[in-house]
Amino acid sequence: MLEIRNLVKNYGKFQALKGINLHIERGEIFGFIGPNGAGKTTTMRIVCGLLQATAGEVYVDGIDALNEPNRIKRKVGYVPDFFGVYDNLKVMEYMNFFASMYGYRPKEVSESIHGLLELVNLADKENAYVDGLSRGMKQRLCVARALIHDPELLVLDEPASGLDPRARYELKEILKNLGDMGKTIIISSHILPELSEMCTSIGVMEKGNLIMSGNVEEIMQRSKGVAPLHIEVVKNEETAVRMLKECPAAEKVSIRDNNIVVTFDGDDLAVADLIRQLVEQEVGICKVFREKGNLESVFLEITEHVQEGGKVQ
Ligand SMILES: Nc1ncnc2c1ncn2[C@@H]1O[C@H](COP(=O)(O)OP(=O)(O)OP(=O)(O)O)[C@@H](O)[C@H]1O
Ligand SMILES: [Mg+2]
Repeated sequence: MLEIRNLVKNYGKFQALKGINLHIERGEIFGFIGPNGAGKTTTMRIVCGLLQATAGEVYVDGIDALNEPNRIKRKVGYVPDFFGVYDNLKVMEYMNFFASMYGYRPKEVSESIHGLLELVNLADKENAYVDGLSRGMKQRLCVARALIHDPELLVLDEPASGLDPRARYELKEILKNLGDMGKTIIISSHILPELSEMCTSIGVMEKGNLIMSGNVEEIMQRSKGVAPLHIEVVKNEETAVRMLKECPAAEKVSIRDNNIVVTFDGDDLAVADLIRQLVEQEVGICKVFREKGNLESVFLEITEHVQEGGKVQ
């Protein structure tokens, strides 16, 4: 659905994007993570045909975004990180205004606009003034607006910033619904946990480089490799502890009640092998479980490496 190749953007002498490569499949919810100034907004605006790139290639559904920005605007809906001021405009008028920008006549789209306002839970606000809406409502209105022309790709720049937990939850539900409807979604944030549960893939940007990207499950799998292992022992605990301390893949062995907790660098097969060895030495094991992979710990690990000067693939 989206293909970015060697994308470069210079603002004068400053290089904001240093050659980005990214591939997003249709129907994915892609989370774009990175600190302030990483280049998220720059990338998103180029993808939406709103900003000229310096070099590289961008294709949305096969259409060349850099050379055919007008065709791209039909394919893409953009929710900017900044909501403009709309004095004296009611919700319905606001929607009609944007519909007319896409060349629709109000009568033609009134039904679909009602539908969109329902989708974002603003059906009862049709006659309310836009400026009088809460921030969360404005954000949802922005999502409805971006969907007027039924785009295949929806790009949202930090839609959750400034929202309270309830509003964040509602926004997430709306985005999940859109994902179920088959839209491809790109959503940026500084905060990883906010994205991890709703995204199918993520990309981490830092200083104009995409330092990591991929399927959330694969990344979680990677984090599983270092997730703590809990082994509940009812017989020969000392033997178990001694063996674990001698095991090269095990680190930080600690005991809580009858539970041995060990940081174990290995996959499920390695865990099975470890258990077999323990049982062979008459260790009585009644329970084993692995902590769930934690995306955040992987993220921290990756950004740490980058701060040390390396580029992680
Ligand atoms: N119009 C501009 N002129 C000059 N430099 C710019 C311009 N827009 C962005 N930059 C610079 O490009 C870099 C990337 O900015 P960008 O807005 O893409 O980052 P971001 O990841 O969206 O950050 P944030 O999380 O703060 O929104 C920053 O260093 C910024 O200062
Ligand atoms: Mg930004």
